[in-house]
Formats: sequence, C-alpha cells, structure tokens
Amino acid sequence: MRALCCILAVAFAVTLVAASTADNSAAVMRKLPENLKLGAATASFQVEGAWDAADKSESIWDTFCRIPGNIKDGTDGNDTCKSYEFYQRDIEMLKFLGVDFYRFSVSWPRVLPNGFANKISEDGIGYYSRLVDELLANGIEPVVTIYHWDLPQNLQDLGGWANPLIADWFEDYARVLFDALGDRVKTWVTLNEPKQFAVFGYGMAFCAPNIVSAGIGDYMAIKNLMVAHARVWHLYDKEYRPTQKGTIGIVIATDYREGASDSPEDIEAGKIAFDFEVGLYSHPIFSTTGGFPESVVKRIAERSAQQGFPRSRLPEFTPEEIEYIKGTSDFFGFNHYSTLFYAADSYKPGIFDIPSYNDDLGAVGTYGSYATTSVPHTTKIPGGIRKALNWVKDSYNNPEIMIFENGFGNLGGNNDIDRIDYYLAYLDAVLDAIEVDGCNITRYTAWSLMDNFEWNSGLSVKFGLFEVDYNDDKRTRTARASALWFKDLIATRTLDPDYEPRLEEIKF
Ligand code: BGC
Repeated sequence: MRALCCILAVAFAVTLVAASTADNSAAVMRKLPENLKLGAATASFQVEGAWDAADKSESIWDTFCRIPGNIKDGTDGNDTCKSYEFYQRDIEMLKFLGVDFYRFSVSWPRVLPNGFANKISEDGIGYYSRLVDELLANGIEPVVTIYHWDLPQNLQDLGGWANPLIADWFEDYARVLFDALGDRVKTWVTLNEPKQFAVFGYGMAFCAPNIVSAGIGDYMAIKNLMVAHARVWHLYDKEYRPTQKGTIGIVIATDYREGASDSPEDIEAGKIAFDFEVGLYSHPIFSTTGGFPESVVKRIAERSAQQGFPRSRLPEFTPEEIEYIKGTSDFFGFNHYSTLFYAADSYKPGIFDIPSYNDDLGAVGTYGSYATTSVPHTTKIPGGIRKALNWVKDSYNNPEIMIFENGFGNLGGNNDIDRIDYYLAYLDAVLDAIEVDGCNITRYTAWSLMDNFEWNSGLSVKFGLFEVDYNDDKRTRTARASALWFKDLIATRTLDPDYEPRLEEIKF
C-alpha cells in the first residue's frame, strides 16, 4: 500500500528571535543556519533484510542473530524493513520529509560475497547504484557509510578486525565502491562508531562477532581499524579525490562523559572516560600529536604490567603509523545520544572482569539524576551534546562537524511526543553550539528514518520517524508525529519550542 495522503501545508507564524546569549533556555523560535543540511539515516543490516538475495553471503550479524538468546526478542535482520525490496518507498518517505540527504550504508557481503574483491556481485552493486541514482533523481544527496558493522562472515573466520590484514581487505572493498559509485557519491563515511563494533564485538558478548576477548581482542581490533580507516582515506585522497572531488571521514560515537561532581577526582574520572570512549578514536586522527590519548595508553600499560602481561594489551602504533593516520578525516563525523557521569570512587577492583576495557576505564558511568526511559542510552541530557561538540571544537581546532546520528528510542507508539521533545531539546543545544559557541556544524541527521533492527534489542526498540509494521508483508511504513515535526522543521527551517504535535494518516 502506497497511499500518500495529501499534506496540508503548515503555516507557521514565525517570530524569529536571534539567539545571542549563552543561556537560550527561554522558549524562542530559532531559525536554522543556512548552511546546516538536514537528513535522516539508516544502515544496511538494520533495514535491508534479504540476507541471501542473489549471491549475497552471510555477515557476522546473520550468524550472531541465529544463536538463541543473542537477540532479545528472537528476531533477526531478515525480519526487518525489507528495504532491499522496498527502497523506492524509503525514497518517497525521504521526499515527503524534504531532507537534503540520506545516510545509508553498504553491506560488504552483498557487494563482495567472498569478502574479497576478486568477485563483485552484480546484483549487490546494482542495488546500491539504483538507490544512488534514484536518490539523486529526487534531489536527495546520498551519504554512504562503507562499513556499519556487517562484516562478511568468511572474513571473520580469518579473524576479522583482529587480523591486521583487514586493512588490505577494507581498502580493496572501498576501491570497489569508489569505482562503482564515486562518480555520484560525494560524501563517504569509512567506519561507523569504531568503539561499538570493536569493544562490544571483540571484548564483550554484546554484538557480533561475539569474540569475548576482553581487554585484548577489542584493543587489537581498535588498532587495526584505525589503520584500515586511514588506508581508505589515503586511497580516496590520492586516487579518487582528484577526479571525484568528494569528501570522506570517520564517524565516532561522541556521547558525552563527565565527572559526577565538581571534585577534581570526579572531573578526572570523567575526562579519562571520555578519552577511552572518544579520544581513543579521535586523537589518532584529529590531534596534532597523533596516536592514542596519553591517559589511555598509560592506564592500560599500568594495568597490563600489574596483571603480569609482558607488554601493554593496547598495541602500539609505530611512528610511521602515527604520521600515516594523522589528519585522515575531512570532517568529524559525530553521533550522539546521551551523557554518562563518572565518580572516581565508583571503581572497586573486582567489579569488572580483569582484564577488560571497563576495568581499564576504571569507573562506573550512570545517568545521575536524569530520568531514564525504556532505552537508557537515549536518556535526554541535551546539555551533553553541546559539551561534546565544544570538546571537539576545542580539542581539534574547530573542525567541520557533521552530526550523523541523533535520536530517541522507545518501545513504540505513533504519537511520539517524547521523541519530538528530545529532538527539540537536542537541536536547541546544537544551535547554541553553533551560534553561541562557534562550532562548525554542517549537517544534522535524525536516527532513524524508520524503525529498524536495533542490534541485540532486535525489532522491539523503535527509533523511527516512521513506524514499520513488521506483521505486514509489505512492511507498511506510517508517519509518526515526529515525522510530521521533522517535515515541518525542514519546510520552515525554524525550531519551534512550542511545536504542537499533530498526527495524520500517512502511509508508504
Ligand atoms: C548506531 C546505530 C544504532 C543507534 C541507536 C548507533 O550506535 O550507529 O546503528 O541503531 O546507535 O542505538
């Protein structure tokens, strides 16, 4: 069913008050900066389904989903939105919203069934090529993530991100995409959220590939992915940028971390937590010194020595690697959902496995006095996004920041005023960061266009501007109140803190 109901034009009485003070808590309408592009995002495994269409091979998430108990509601990626089949409806939804761009990712095993570049799937690459063409034909810019967590299983069988040869394999895969799509795709993301796939996948039983090598395998993956990312940036920079003239960078989960109080110990605990969570990935690329942050290097080296390891569990970069990785992102790709607070005295030896990433980080994060909801990692703490944006600006000489994910998770319901409330508060903080603090932010992306497969929570957790009916073979998508809000935001380019949510029967 593709009944697109008529849309009533929304007339806004626009009273614009320029934001000029550091405290923008007063409810004022705010105009969005002209150069801020607005978009929505998804990722291949989370929306495509069709796990074995044509010659596609399995990804590590196909394997992970099959093991009972891994996914909370027992669903798997094949149950999701079926965008491989219905992508044209996704484009209609994007058009309806009026977005400037759509961020989606490519499934590596769909394009290279062997994982290696000796055999390119015509169906696989054809799918992405059509998606790109049809987006462009509809005036929507494609922003393509090369890797959003669905590694070919056969590469995992060879060690995946824990094998240093992944840098060769990743470069070969990226070359295939630049060759096939780079004439039309001008904004590329190499890796989405390295911490989440390296630490949750190689150090904790939380994500695929479920290699629970705590405090060892996760750090091996981190080092290798940094090198692999840099290889792809250099490849693009040298061989493709001169003709394709695009831009390419990494996306880092930049949820904020801070001390639980103003005591120097807590402030320090918050700083170290931020270095572990964000600096580990951003410092090698964006800092002038390069390499992993000193606080993290020192902490892991000390704990490793205490634990009897002959060398640090965090593999070192060679001096050549440090130089090679420095500067390898044209923008700071920034995902953000919430903030955690750390008290120095929350650490007690033995509360975490030894060794492990959490034990190395050495404090327990909480949401403090903020009310958590059914999806705690989207607890609404809007001040945190402004602080995180400022941290990027101050630490790295005000780089261009592209916000590539921000959004609110709940358990469903189409009159999602909680989601609108979250978006209003976070966008207000983003505007403070731009107008008051001078952060150089050029994109804002809603996660997510529609409900999709939320990793180990399966289909039970909802992030969509559009609801997806998983009981319907056609996976009908229905606009939530937040979809109408986002559409209005884009149409008026005005953030209205008193926005009156509305619902209309709009289905795709
Ligand atoms: C990931 C998405 C995920 C979202 C909401 C991000 O960590 O990039 O894939 O769905 O958060 O949890």
